[in-house]
Amino acid sequence: MPLFQSSTLITPDVPAVPRHIAIIMDGNGRWAKNYFMPRVMGHQRGVEALRETVRTCRDLGVAYLTVFAFSSENWRRPAEEVTFLMSLFLKMLEREVGNMHQNNIRLKIMGDRSRFDDKFILAMQQAEQLTASNTGLVLTIAANYGGRWDIMTAIQAMLKDQPALATSFTEADLSPYLSLNDEPEPDLLIRTGGEQRISNFMLWQLAYTELYFTDTLWPAFGRRDLEAAIASYQKRERRFGRTSEQLQEGKPHA
Ligand code: IPE
Ligand code: IPE
Ligand code: MG
Repeated sequence: MPLFQSSTLITPDVPAVPRHIAIIMDGNGRWAKNYFMPRVMGHQRGVEALRETVRTCRDLGVAYLTVFAFSSENWRRPAEEVTFLMSLFLKMLEREVGNMHQNNIRLKIMGDRSRFDDKFILAMQQAEQLTASNTGLVLTIAANYGGRWDIMTAIQAMLKDQPALATSFTEADLSPYLSLNDEPEPDLLIRTGGEQRISNFMLWQLAYTELYFTDTLWPAFGRRDLEAAIASYQKRERRFGRTSEQLQEGKPHA
């Protein structure tokens, strides 16, 4: 049984501060270009921005943070950039995990690991194991992740476990096999870098997530930007299919 129920099967309650924030960390290359630096310098600075975002989430009481670090389509980039991103990720795992552990952060990695080399797979496992029983912020890094991969893999795993479902299955049958099935669905998705698209991020889990797009490039994204995104979220009316009048009726009179 998943711990949290789906936004389409029940009407979830709406937290004032998002419980779960998802971020598409975009704009690293353009940030570097603006400073006449190679693209990869933008990725390096992007790690700093992530560090600050993690700190802010902890301060504000956000329980889950999920960040898109490398998509299943990012392999299409020049080989040197892909290699740099992989070594940066590995370095980050090695360097930051101890610190995360001290801060009671639980680290998870989601995505298809089969394309990573053994050293990398081992580092991911060790980081997850070390921090598995931490009770603070849950930080999930999406690496070689794609929303379609997530759904396809879930269906395959479900049918392997329960072949009888091949003729018919429900959302409740499938959801335990999807990534992050033990977390509430994201309340807020932030995409930096100015593009207004999902780029194959959490296609299933974002069903009723509030979307926030900002032109700020990821390496420049700081505490105030995150606070601005949350302030925008707090002004939204999350209806989950109902009417505005229904929501007003449900509220106690002032
Ligand atoms: C996001 O920044 C990081 C990754 C996709 C790995 P980009 O590298 O996409 O930066 P832009 O969008 O080209 O500026
Ligand atoms: C999305 O950014 C993926 C990550 C931030 C990891 P991209 O830069 O790859 O997205 P597109 O290609 O502009 O859609
Ligand atoms: Mg980009």
